[in-house]
Amino acid sequence: MSTCVNKSTETWNEMQDYYKNILEGSIRFGSDVCSLKATQMMTKGARNALSLVHEDIKERYFGCGLPLPSCLLEAHVLDLGCGTGRDVYLLSKMVGPNGHVTGIDMTDELLSFAKQYVDYHCQAFGYNESNVDFKEGYIEKLSASGIKANQFDVIVSNCVINLSPDKQSVLKEAYTSLKDGGEIFFSDMYANKPIPDTLKTNKSLWGDGLAGALTWSQLLEIAAEVGFTRPRLYAIRKINVNKPEHKELVGDIQYASITCRLFKLPSKASGNSTESEVKFNGTEDHLDKLVFDNSVTFTTGTRTVVDGTLAAILKHSRYAKHFSFTSSSTEAPPPQNGISDPFELLSCK
Ligand SMILES: C[S@@+](CC[C@H](N)C(=O)[O-])C[C@H]1O[C@@H](n2cnc3c(N)ncnc32)[C@H](O)[C@@H]1O
Repeated sequence: MSTCVNKSTETWNEMQDYYKNILEGSIRFGSDVCSLKATQMMTKGARNALSLVHEDIKERYFGCGLPLPSCLLEAHVLDLGCGTGRDVYLLSKMVGPNGHVTGIDMTDELLSFAKQYVDYHCQAFGYNESNVDFKEGYIEKLSASGIKANQFDVIVSNCVINLSPDKQSVLKEAYTSLKDGGEIFFSDMYANKPIPDTLKTNKSLWGDGLAGALTWSQLLEIAAEVGFTRPRLYAIRKINVNKPEHKELVGDIQYASITCRLFKLPSKASGNSTESEVKFNGTEDHLDKLVFDNSVTFTTGTRTVVDGTLAAILKHSRYAKHFSFTSSSTEAPPPQNGISDPFELLSCK
């Protein structure tokens, strides 16, 4: 076994213990990230879905954001590090009876808890049969858990990827298991500067997401290497570090919960489309507008000229059926490079 494999196994084992203890209540998170409530960004459909999720599941939610993309009806979704399954059940309602949600997690105790509520949610959502399944496995090795290439329309994840010892493999595996036009839409903890190696061996810091957090530019680099479109920022919230011993260790490093989206475009479409004037036609859950990211909102019925990358994303993804496309009479704007430092958007530092 290489040192790298040994290191991964050690981190996995430590994190399994850590989250088993969190489930049992013997340790608590040391930052207020896990109590972040992002309900103000939820659509009516999402609020209704959340209201139907069992209280026991909601009480054991350990996420840091709201990885809930729009237009999910009939989608096949994978949740990386689903824990006790809050987002799996929320998404189960959002995709409808003809969609499907798979949750994968490496910690047996959390998965066993999640599985006890499959029938409850099937009934609460009025489905004849459940549209969810749970798999035990590592997010760095999806194929080993029977997950196939090109299987999913959407992958979500909530406060998990920062815990992985090998983020590159996580994004590579996600890329492989997405269909062309699919996306990974995920919330995670980020730092405003690279975490020094000396902090990365602290189990409690790692477990709370503070030692394994990437910077935004590290994410951009990995995403580009794997082949995803440039990450589009969706939301950012400040995270407060509360445990005094953690505060002392992290010093002036700032943390935020960031939700972003990365698309897998078919190779022939990479970043280009000649049809750059688009019109959003509205959906039941998005009658007036569709918030696509922190800088792009489509107003229903209004023509908008978008850059080639965004036109390609809309045309090749599940969004295509909700948009009309025409060749633009005006020149398409050059591709937007997006935000370079999301921490600048935090209103209170
Ligand atoms: C902070 S909790 C988030 C759980 C869930 N997403 C939620 O929002 O409640 C992190 C979860 O990721 C899982 N996890 C961490 N590293 C993992 C890995 N490498 N492979 C699979 N699961 C992992 C843990 O077992 C735990 O359930």
